[in-house]
Parts: sequence; C-alpha cells; structure tokens
Amino acid sequence: MAAGESFYIATPIFYVNDVPHIGHAYTEVAADVLARWHRQAGDDTWLLTGTDEHGQKILRTAVANDTTPKAWADKLVADAWQPLLKTINISNDDFIRTTEERHEKAVTIFLQKLYDDGFIYSGEYEGYYCVGCEEYKQLDDLMELPSGDYAGRLLCKIHSIPVEVLKEKNYFFRMSDFQQRLLDLYELQPDFIQPESVRNEIIQFVKQGLDDLSISRSSFDWGITIPWDHSHVLYVWFDALLNYITAVGYGTDQENFERRWPAVQLVGKDIARFHAVIWPAMLMAAGLPVPRKVFGHGWLLVGGEKMSKSKLTGIAPSEITDTFGVDAFRYYFMRAISFGQDGSFSWEDLSARYQAELANGFGNLASRVIAMVSRYRQGVIPNPGPFTEADEAIRAAERRVTLDADAAIERLAIHEALASIWTLVDELNGYITIQEPWALSKDPANAERLDTVLFTIVRGLGTLAVLLAPVIPDAAAKLWAAIGGSGAVADQDVRAAYDWTGAPTVTALESPLFPRIEQVETASA
Ligand code: ME8
Ligand code: MG
Repeated sequence: MAAGESFYIATPIFYVNDVPHIGHAYTEVAADVLARWHRQAGDDTWLLTGTDEHGQKILRTAVANDTTPKAWADKLVADAWQPLLKTINISNDDFIRTTEERHEKAVTIFLQKLYDDGFIYSGEYEGYYCVGCEEYKQLDDLMELPSGDYAGRLLCKIHSIPVEVLKEKNYFFRMSDFQQRLLDLYELQPDFIQPESVRNEIIQFVKQGLDDLSISRSSFDWGITIPWDHSHVLYVWFDALLNYITAVGYGTDQENFERRWPAVQLVGKDIARFHAVIWPAMLMAAGLPVPRKVFGHGWLLVGGEKMSKSKLTGIAPSEITDTFGVDAFRYYFMRAISFGQDGSFSWEDLSARYQAELANGFGNLASRVIAMVSRYRQGVIPNPGPFTEADEAIRAAERRVTLDADAAIERLAIHEALASIWTLVDELNGYITIQEPWALSKDPANAERLDTVLFTIVRGLGTLAVLLAPVIPDAAAKLWAAIGGSGAVADQDVRAAYDWTGAPTVTALESPLFPRIEQVETASA
C-alpha cells in the first residue's frame, strides 16, 4: 500500500470469564507486528483490542464467584487483560470494553436503525445453545458420549459440555436475506476471507443456506437493553462484533469513522464464521462497508488439541517471557508457525530457536560487529573504500529483503517476512566468515579493505534493526542506539530500511541482545 493510507487492524475482543493464555497473546502479537510495520511505513495506523463483557458466560462466572458481572469484568480487565498487553509489549491505540457507554450508545443507534429499516422482527426460537461458545447450535454441532458424567446428553463438540434447550420469544435478524450478497462478496473479493482453508469452509457453510439469527434474550439481563423492548437484552455476539465500529466513532464521530473503517480483522479460525458471515451481513443491512479482510489464523495446540482454559491446557504468557524475554516470545510465535496454520507449542522448540536464531544468529552478529568497530576503529564507523562484488551482494540483499518482507507483510505472511529477513542475518554472518576482518586487521596495508568490510556490516545491521523493530522492538532499539542510528528506530521507514542514516560512531552494547539462557525450563506445563 502507499504511505499515508489508513490501516486499521483489530483483534477479537476477549471474554473476561478467565485470564489470558498464549493463544490470546498470539493474536495480539500478530496484530501488533502488522500495526508496528504499517506505522513504521508511515501509514495512518490504528490498532484496536479489548474485552467482551456481556452474556451468560460472564454472568455465570461472576455469580459463581459471588460477585456482579461488572465487578468481575473490572477486576479481570485490571488484573489480567490490561497487564497482558504490557507483558508482550502491545502498541494498541485503543482498548474497548463492551460495558463502556461509548459502545452501548452506538450499539443502540445501530440496532434501532436495523429495526426501523425492517431487518429485525419478533419470533420464537426453539433450539440449542452453548454458553461456552455463546452460540446457537444445530444438531451437526453436537455430539453424544456413550459413558461418563454426561452420557446420553447432547454436548457441544467444542466444549464437551451439555448444551441448553431454549424456547423463547426472541427478536431475529433477517440474516437469510444476505446469503447471495455474501456469496457474491466472497467471489468478487477473493481475499476477503483468508487463508484459503477458512475461506472454503465459510463458502460451503453459506451455500447450505442461512437461517435468520436470534439476537435477543429475555431470561437474564446482563447485556445491552433492546431499545424498543426493555424486557430483552442483545445477544452477546451481536453486541461484541459492533465494537469494531463503535470504537472508531460509528454513531458518535462520523469523521473518525470514515477515516478508519474498514478494518483488517485478525481472528482465530474458531470465530471466523461470526466475522465472515454474521458481521458483514450486519454491516450490509446497515449500509456500511464490510471489513477489508477477515484473516482466521490457526490454533496453538497442546497435545494435538486447541489450547484452552476450559480444558486446563492454557499456558500463561509470563511463564515464557519470564525466562526468554518479551522479544523472544514475539519472535518465536511469529517465526515458528506459518501464519494461518495450526502450530504446536513446545519448550524444546522455543529454546532451540532462541539459541540458534536469536542468541547465536542475530545477537552474536550484533555483538561481534560492534566489538570489531570498537577494537579496530575505536568505535568510529569508517568511510568505505571501493566496493567488491561481495560488498555489493550484501547491499543487494538488504534491498531485496526489504522489498520481500514488505510484500510478505502485505499478504499477512508474517513468518515469510521473518524468514526473508533472516536470510540477511545469515548472509552477513557468512560475509564476515569469508572477509575475516580479524585477519585484515593484522596488516596496515589492508586498512582500506577493513574499512569497507566494517562499513558494510554496520550498514547491514542497521537495516536489520529497522526491519526487526516491529517484531522485537526492544532488541532493535538497543541495537539501533548502539550503531548510532539517528532518532528512534520505530520512526525509520520500514519500506526503505536499507536507506537508513545515523551517526558515525558505535557504542558498546551493555549486554548481549539475547543472552544465553543457562537453565531452560523443559517441563511441559
Ligand atoms: O471468542 N490458539 O473470545 P475468546 C490460537 N469474545 N488463538 C487462540 C487460542 C489458541 N489455542 N485460544 C484463543 C471470543 N485464541 C469472543 C470474540 S470478537 C467480536 C468476540 C484467540 O476469549 C483467538 O484469537 O474465546 C481466538 O479467536 C480468540 O482467542 C477467542 O477468544
Ligand atoms: Mg473461546
């Protein structure tokens, strides 16, 4: 995209029934890397995240903990969800909670409009509901087990808990009206849903036909009141999806809304249907633009199953950051998992990549280069002499990697961007091995050649600092300062990373960017 364009990216808003695990952190980091990249390219960037606080799941958790849902949400947001963003260094521009007045007010405006325009009617719902999913279920979504506590009962396939039978007077959204328009959208905008596997699943689902959607509940009151019927509250998903527009001014600040919307939406594939079917249908009904795209990333698996709190397989992000640091956490999940695919987390893989790629590959390169400039040139980055083919090859690699990484980010292939950037790490290490600056330093006749080699590797390091700042912001900033980069690394144009400028001196690193970790926790959590 061209610099200056709007880039609005949003994560799902997470349920506050429990504390975050590394699955939630994964979505946050991916969105943050993309936002930092675009911000660093000069795009008009906005990163939104937040919490989903209404509905039965939160209500029941609060009751079980002898408190009110609002008090419970306040506590979880303050003690767990906001601190998560610090733990993993998320640069969000806003944090929306669905219990905030700005949200509730705009939701009411949206609902009333759909009601006035005839998209909502009153009817009778009879069927199943999973409180874990906060979703109405079809028989296909359910299973029975032959034995155990729930033998013979209908269970949600995702949560393995019994679904509830509902028979209520509800308000319905005419979602069935949008089947063809949705199919047209998927066809005309083939990258609307990504990756391809999620897109195919959604198209199959919509082709089977869409039912109207029950959007109100009257058996409890923890939700946004239906404006024309105060005995009902809004279905929690209808409420939650609207956060993406209420947070940027829908209904309250038209100018800002037009500046930001539509967004790129990152979600886990578990909730891709809500985002790629219900959400665009809601927007179409209101005459608003649909999202720029919905990307359903894969799951972090534990023992082959989706990591989840309800199955007690959740790992707290701090368990990893306490040992490996924030940057390594961010790097690992972005590098080791192809974005869009599932990935198994393991301590062994994390620690192997930390050692090979961060400590030895990148961190050691930085330390060696800075030490050589200090030792051979008293910290002054020399002016180069004539360039050889090998030096030109490094310059060419810097350019190539900058372009390739940006193109990969544009496709949301974060892992490919990192793989590409790492080819520069490897080329620089190879260049040093072949050029042998330590050998050149022994003979004053080679002084000019040594100047050129040192100059070339410092330039390469600066390019790496600029390109890696979105992923490992702390290490990139340390490196940038050490090689005399001017200004903040986060302000350097990432799409012209190889064109960076700086001061002519290096300063020694106080500590390695990625220190050796003596004792690595390998017990499975
Ligand atoms: O669904 N692997 O919230 P939620 C990867 N409130 N990502 C994971 C994951 C895993 N094992 N586990 C969770 C909700 N996630 C709704 C969303 S949006 C309008 C409302 C991430 O707390 C992933 O992003 O259950 C997934 O989609 C999300 O957490 C579900 O979070
Ligand atoms: Mg969930």
